[in-house]
Amino acid sequence: MPAGFPLPDSTVTLSFRRLSCPASRLPLSRLLAVLSLGVAGLSAPLHASAQATQASAQEEPFEPQLGRHGKDVMWLPTPDALAERLMRMAGLGPQDIFVDLGAGDGRVSIAAARDFQAQALGVEFDPRMVAVSQRNAQEAGVAGRTRFIEGDIFKADFSQANIVFMYLLPQLNLRLRPTLMAMAPGTRIITHQFHMGRWEPDETTLIAHRPGYLWIVPANAGGRWVLNYQLGAGRGQATLDLSQTFQKLKGTAAMGELQTTLRQPRLTGERIAFGFTDPQGQLREFTGVVTADRIRGTVTGPGDATSFTARREGAAPPVGGSEPPSQEELDAAAASLGSE
Ligand SMILES: C[S@@+](CC[C@H](N)C(=O)[O-])C[C@H]1O[C@@H](n2cnc3c(N)ncnc32)[C@H](O)[C@@H]1O
Repeated sequence: MPAGFPLPDSTVTLSFRRLSCPASRLPLSRLLAVLSLGVAGLSAPLHASAQATQASAQEEPFEPQLGRHGKDVMWLPTPDALAERLMRMAGLGPQDIFVDLGAGDGRVSIAAARDFQAQALGVEFDPRMVAVSQRNAQEAGVAGRTRFIEGDIFKADFSQANIVFMYLLPQLNLRLRPTLMAMAPGTRIITHQFHMGRWEPDETTLIAHRPGYLWIVPANAGGRWVLNYQLGAGRGQATLDLSQTFQKLKGTAAMGELQTTLRQPRLTGERIAFGFTDPQGQLREFTGVVTADRIRGTVTGPGDATSFTARREGAAPPVGGSEPPSQEELDAAAASLGSE
């Protein structure tokens, strides 16, 4: 569990009754319309309804209503089946630290702790929703493996998580993208409904017409590398020049006067794979792990396999796409809301 987060407030006594109208039963067009209202500002009826809810809080147990005002997006819950599917795609397990950014009533974090034995953190701006989450976690018997904090997703430190869940809005996902890309390589990002602009997902799913996405934070593999390997009686050396945008790699291998493009370079977290035809005309295929300025792994050729190493020369260039999104991209994301 990340250090520095306040402990749940054990004095909270608000009660909570499970919603009988999950968002999964709402038509998608209605959901998108409701979610986007949270960005542009609440409509008068919804705003009035939120105020009325707060005014009556002293008299009756607090029960969150669908569409409850949130700071940057209002509350709608993720259907259980989609949350479970995304957690399976992310490979969530007991060794993981899961965070839900904008945790709502805590149901996704609670499922992560209850069904996958993960340590789960929920960051939520609305203190009453935080209280509901804490109460729900206690009822589910996972208070020890969950923590819910009142905070702003743009200010909270969730860097110790290795699985991040978001059900926000496309432009909010984009604003978080530089922070997400700076997380440890291999961190899995899963989202309900909304994409991450130019950062293409590693896997997309659809369940009951709801899309979900998975991204795996890539290591930084860009720059110039000196590659050494031994195959059979021969010893190979090449200079690799790799350029990287998000998890996509392109590159060349230079061997003396020969230069050739890399075949199917791929990056999945820290795992890298590529191939090239060597000066003897043999296809060499490399799979390895990028750790800081080293790559170590295995190279295969016809009938042989052995280890290789590569050392980066000079500083790693910034990964393409790790900079803040342009206003144009943010505008396009906001405009895409109605078309998803
Ligand atoms: C669409 S709901 C998703 C709830 C939950 N993650 C789920 O999938 O069931 C978005 C949540 O984000 C919260 N939220 C909005 N802006 C926020 C911010 N800047 N920081 C933290 N939470 C925020 C809202 O209050 C709301 O509960």
